[in-house]
Amino acid sequence: MKHIILFFGLTAFAVSPHQAFAESTFEKIKIEAGETLFFSECRRCHAPDSTDPSYGPALDNIVGRVAGKVEGYEYSEALAGSGIVWTPAALRAWMEDNDGFMPGTKMRHVGIVDRTVQDFILAYLGSLPSQ
Ligand code: HEC
Repeated sequence: MKHIILFFGLTAFAVSPHQAFAESTFEKIKIEAGETLFFSECRRCHAPDSTDPSYGPALDNIVGRVAGKVEGYEYSEALAGSGIVWTPAALRAWMEDNDGFMPGTKMRHVGIVDRTVQDFILAYLGSLPSQ
């Protein structure tokens, strides 16, 4: 019995650091890809940092935030009154068809339907520090 426990203990030790490394490397790659996509698809209207004024609201700390909460930003009535929380699922629906998801929004239509592209952008948004 002791040997079995020892065996599993060693196996866990031998496997997990490698897996943790692979996962964190993969996450880093996703964030970097997301940053590139953010700069091509979103950056012309959104800053990743609320100290940098842009046409759209800044998106730092957006994952998990209640919609319409960037102070001083003039949201559409639709968005300001929506009361939705920007969960990953809501952000996916938004990237896919924002004006279908929320009729009356003033964000011009974006149609990012590719789940992998959404994944990357989500990874990047999730990595942004709150200001
Ligand atoms: C052409 C300009 C433009 C582009 C491109 C754009 N947005 Fe927006 N976005 C806006 C505007 C304007 C608003 C405010 C909408 C409103 O008040 O109805 C907004 C709002 C948002 C919000 C809600 C923020 C909040 O504080 O509740 C999210 C999330 C968002 N955009 C994500 C994105 C992402 C992700 C991309 C890229 C895939 C993107 N947007 C591309 C202009 C843009």
